[in-house]
Amino acid sequence: MTVLVLGGAGYIGSHTVYELIDAGQDVVIADNLLTGHVEAVHPKARFYKGDIRDEKFLDELFQKEKIDSVIHFAASSLVGESMTDPLKYYDNNLYGTMILLKSMVKNGIDKIVFSSTAATYGEPESIPILETDKTEPTNTYGETKLSMEKMFKWVSKAHNIRFVALRYFNACGAHISGKIGESHNPETHLISLILQVPNGQREFISIFGDDYETKDGTCIRDYIHVTDLAQAHILAMKYLENGNESNIFNLGNGVGFTVKEVVETAAKVTGQVIPSKICERRAGDPAVLIASSEKAKTILGWKPQYTSLEEIIKTAWKWQKNHPNGY
Ligand code: UFG
Repeated sequence: MTVLVLGGAGYIGSHTVYELIDAGQDVVIADNLLTGHVEAVHPKARFYKGDIRDEKFLDELFQKEKIDSVIHFAASSLVGESMTDPLKYYDNNLYGTMILLKSMVKNGIDKIVFSSTAATYGEPESIPILETDKTEPTNTYGETKLSMEKMFKWVSKAHNIRFVALRYFNACGAHISGKIGESHNPETHLISLILQVPNGQREFISIFGDDYETKDGTCIRDYIHVTDLAQAHILAMKYLENGNESNIFNLGNGVGFTVKEVVETAAKVTGQVIPSKICERRAGDPAVLIASSEKAKTILGWKPQYTSLEEIIKTAWKWQKNHPNGY
């Protein structure tokens, strides 16, 4: 059984490859290395440099390797950038997925697990968010991910393909070994940015708004460890291998933390003072995003291991202290 991980040199992709290999799986990675890192490629995986928008590259890959399932992470994922350069997101995320599906249909590959996002919901109508809640994205990134889900839905009806879409909430943390972790340029994610302060790369953390209707006025998010996300992909792949139907699952811890609480926890973990400054709200930020992951727990048997924010931040700190400039 061989699994193809598209975007396997990226943040969540590389952590999934590590878990797959620990589970004894044969893994092939394809990544264009535009945002992925060659250093994040697991030494036991077979690596191909290429782009999912390149149909010939995919066809040749499927003909060379005997692929049973695909796990698809190869996408652009910055909310802010998606608003200033929407066509990049339609090109990489939607057009790229269309080419991938064409090649999968042609080559008889029938199972795929792929990254979706909490951004498909937009402003939630109730908390915690259920998979059946309304989906009205407030940014291009979320819109392209929702369109990807819909593309899979219609293509799977016409062709012999089954899929699982995993809607992540706030991915964070790093591999327990400290060998791989989050390394984005530019970095936009809260925990990585906060840890740049004790690492001496940033003087303070900006808090985007303290006038939300939450307990301390700052936004509440559901932080989920990247290794727990990785495990969910393996369970989703097994779910498809067992012949189950296409499905969509939320992935979060089901617990929310305010931005201020995250800053305080990071100060405790690092043992350093982390100054912060209150700034304007960031456009498009919902006040509260918390997942209900009951469906993934019941149907996939998923159980997040990192339920403590402190433990999550400890893994991120171990990575960031030793790799202050990323890879
Ligand atoms: N924040 C700050 N200061 C910063 C950075 C972030 O206060 O310097 C705040 C944000 O306003 C937000 C929280 O910290 O309230 C988390 O922000 P992130 O940018 O880390 O994450 P988001 O919640 O914006 O984004 C995450 C995923 C996206 C996904 C989105 C769904 O990273 O991929 O959830 O809404 F689209």
